Amino acid sequence: MFKNIIIVVAVTLCALFTNEHVVYSANLEHGEQIFSANCAACHAGGNNVIMPEKTLKAEALEANNIKNISAIANQVKNGKNAMPSFSRLSDSDIEDVANYVLSKADKGW
Ligand SMILES: *[C@@H]1O[C@H](CO)[C@@H](O)[C@H](O)[C@H]1NC(C)=O
Repeated sequence: MFKNIIIVVAVTLCALFTNEHVVYSANLEHGEQIFSANCAACHAGGNNVIMPEKTLKAEALEANNIKNISAIANQVKNGKNAMPSFSRLSDSDIEDVANYVLSKADKGW
């Protein structure tokens, strides 16, 4: 009886972690697609063809105070200076692409 409960708990925990992992990588993959389709024209490789110093690299995101998901998502949604608003993207698309950008910045592109 006790053994069964342990097994049920263990299986449930496994399922939870596995699920979380699958959802997270699926979002990043989708984020990459959104990035390629909407951002790569100006930001290929995390660079910036319009304003070369405003890259998507960790130091630049830090320096420009946009080094978290909500700050990146906000800028994608509303635009800033030379960057147009991408409000045609859905909130979940923006969430995915912001996660993708931050994960690439953390890895060094
Ligand atoms: C994200 O960064 C912005 C700008 O630095 C800051 O105002 C905001 O509190 C941060 N949000 C989180 C969740 O850390």
